[in-house]
Amino acid sequence: MNLPHVLPSAPLAPPSHFETIGGQAAVDRLVDAFYAQMDSRPDATGIRAMHEPDLGHTKAVLRLYLAEWLGGPKDYTAQRGHPRLRMRHAAFPIGVPERDAWLACMASAMQQTGVPPDLHSVLMAAFFKTADWMRNTPHPPATSATNPKEAS
Ligand code: HEM
Repeated sequence: MNLPHVLPSAPLAPPSHFETIGGQAAVDRLVDAFYAQMDSRPDATGIRAMHEPDLGHTKAVLRLYLAEWLGGPKDYTAQRGHPRLRMRHAAFPIGVPERDAWLACMASAMQQTGVPPDLHSVLMAAFFKTADWMRNTPHPPATSATNPKEAS
């Protein structure tokens, strides 16, 4: 009996998000675009003020974190240990407006740097979960004008 001429090939691992986005150079461009957004968007003034005036160190850390989170080199963990992001953000009051401002900066940065649309959607869903989990400040309480129980 003749064996098939073509041997079945081992299944290829799908590319990581890190590879799809374009490797470290693309992550670096994304981080630059993200903080440029934070520097210029009126809705991001509040979260920009939580950061140091000089963003050099913060950018370097976010580059490492995002590269690892996307499936690239694990340099963030090697240098800074477990991310513990909720704990690291505990000092900053994060509610819905802060979450949404962060996500708006990231969405624009991904668009500006040409992240493919499919990956953009997948990453936005994941960023939303992380950013939402970071919330540590409740919604502002309803004022008497908007609370129907108190309106007469
Ligand atoms: C939800 C709104 C968010 C706000 C207001 C916020 C704000 C901040 C601030 C003020 C810092 C400190 C920066 C510094 O030390 O210079 C920080 C650090 C950081 N943030 Fe956020 N952040 C938010 C969401 C996120 C999300 C969704 C991620 C990841 C997907 C993230 C990843 C990081 C990382 C990796 C650091 C550095 C942590 C470290 O020191 O190792 N942040 N963030």
